[in-house]
Formats: sequence, C-alpha cells, structure tokens
Amino acid sequence: MDGVTFGVLVAFIQYARQFFRPIQGLSEKFNTLQSALASSERIFSVLDTETKVKETNNPKQIKNPQGKIEFENVWFKYNEDEEWILKDISFVAEPGDDIALVGATGAGKTTIINILMRFYDIQKGSIKLDGVDIRDLTLHDLRSHFGLVLQDNALFSGSILDNITLGHPEITREQVIEAAHKVEAHRFIEKLPETYDYVLQERGASLSMGQRQLICFVRALVYDPEILILDEATSSVDSETEALVTESSRLMMEGRTSIVVAHRLSTIQHADRILVMHKGEIRESGSHQELILQENGIYKKLYELQYKDQLVAG
Ligand SMILES: Nc1ncnc2c1ncn2[C@@H]1O[C@H](COP(=O)(O)OP(=O)(O)OP(=O)(O)O)[C@@H](O)[C@H]1O
Ligand SMILES: [Mg+2]
Repeated sequence: MDGVTFGVLVAFIQYARQFFRPIQGLSEKFNTLQSALASSERIFSVLDTETKVKETNNPKQIKNPQGKIEFENVWFKYNEDEEWILKDISFVAEPGDDIALVGATGAGKTTIINILMRFYDIQKGSIKLDGVDIRDLTLHDLRSHFGLVLQDNALFSGSILDNITLGHPEITREQVIEAAHKVEAHRFIEKLPETYDYVLQERGASLSMGQRQLICFVRALVYDPEILILDEATSSVDSETEALVTESSRLMMEGRTSIVVAHRLSTIQHADRILVMHKGEIRESGSHQELILQENGIYKKLYELQYKDQLVAG
C-alpha cells in the first residue's frame, strides 16, 4: 500500500502548525495596529483642535505682579445659541484677598475660573489682572501668574516628582521639596518607599484622597504664583482628610490672592469675602458673619442645609 508513515504524518502536522503560527501572529499584530490607528486618529484630532482663544499680536506685560483681579460687567456663554451662563459679573480681588465662590451645582463657579484662565474668552465686559486686560497678555504669561488646583485632581501613573513638575526640566528637586514643605506634604511623601520617586498608579490610586490633594497643591505651588485658584472637590471627605486639606490650603494661600470654589464649611468661614452665585449671577457678597445674618439670604439657606448635614454626619 502506498501511504505515509506515521512519523511523516506527525511531522507534516507539526510543520503545518509551525507554518500557520506566524501567520496567526501576524493577524493579531494587525488587530493591534488597527486599534492603535483608531486611537491615534482621536489623539490627533484633539491635538488639531483649534483653540478658540486667540493670542494677542502685541502683548503687554505686567511689570510688578501683585495679584489683583478685576471682573467688570462680564457676560459669558459657552455656545452662541445658548442662554448666558454668566450674567453681569463684577467683583474685585485685591492682592492677598481670599475670595470664596459658593452656589448650587451649575451656578457658574467653575466657569468663572475657566474664563479667568482664558480657557474660553468672554463675550462682554472685561477681566483685568493687575490693571491689564487679560486678552492683552500672552496665554503663557497670563497662566504663569496662577497656580491651579482643579475639581477632579489629575494624577497620572509616574513618580511623585513627575506628577508635580509635569516634566518641566527647569523645576528642580529642591524647589519641589520646598513647595512640599510649605503645605506639609513633605511629611507623608518622605515616608513613602522611594519618597519623591515613588511611582503612583493610574490616577494616584495608591494614595489616600487627602494625599492626592496635597500633591496637587504642591504642583500648584511649585512656581510660587501670585494667585491661587482652587476648585474644591464636591465629594465629602472624612474629618481627618478635611483637617489635613484645610490646614494645607490655608498654608498655601498665605501671601497670595486666592479664589476658591468652596464646598467645605472650613474654607468658607475663613474667606475674606464670599460671593454667592445663583444661576450665573452674583447674588450676595460679604463675609460669613455678614451673610449669615441676611434674612431669606441664599447663603444663609445654603449654610443651614450644609450645617444640618454636618451635624448629622458628625
Ligand atoms: N464646556 C462647557 N460647554 C458648555 N456648557 C458648559 C460647559 N461647562 C459648563 N457648562 C454649563 O455651564 C453652566 C455652569 O457650569 P459650571 O461648571 O460653571 O457650574 P459649577 O457652579 O462649577 O457647578 P458644580 O458645583 O457642579 O461644579 C452649567 O449649566 C453647565 O451645564
Ligand atoms: Mg464646578
């Protein structure tokens, strides 16, 4: 009988397998390539997004930065065809002032920060920094006067040092440590396995919420800005974290103008002035002591609501 031996058959099957394995591998690579292409398309579309704010052609400079902020009859909306998000906002923050913004969700608190940093341009009115319209400054110059801590603090996987410097080579390790000392963050960082080289997990998952917040404080402070902007996280924190963050943010604001979107009572009570926002308007303004006495005041109501919660929680 003409046939193949068992050995030849086995060899054939094995060779055939060996032949197909790289082909299979190739097709897997192709899948990876495809999804990488799809991702890169998205990344490039983000990079290509045209910024709406335009750089001025002949920029002015602030000679002696003090940190004075003036909003004059500011009107703003994100899109052409919608209602005004901010209506006729006017206020002044003198150098060193601590201003708190309070109000219900959607009132426009974060929007005030967005237009102050020129992530968006306003439609009417003016915003001045030390007497200069912010549209007459370069974006880089303008933003260099601010330290910013956002509502959802963004940490990425990488060392603590990188998370603070964001890869800017001109910031030295010494500067980072100095800034960390100022907000009492050095104490906990020092205790981590590799201190400032400790590698964080994605979004800083291996740290507590308070610790993550402190790292963001250090990041905002490392340039020693004249003005500090803090959009407090809305999520409630335990009293230990609260104490830690409160103390650190007080230290951070010392000697600077600060604008804080405040959710925590401890922050609000220490502010020089509280601006109470309601549906895009500043409806009340004053110190905690003044506002709490206003009959039927929005602040009074907000405060009582929160205070009741705190009493229950505590
Ligand atoms: N990028 C955006 N594009 C369009 N509309 C926006 C944008 N960001 C916010 N808005 C709208 O502007 C209004 C004010 O939002 P803003 O984020 O300033 O509120 P907020 O006072 O910070 O609220 P919260 O306390 O929840 O943070 C809301 O109605 C919101 O839907
Ligand atoms: Mg907000």
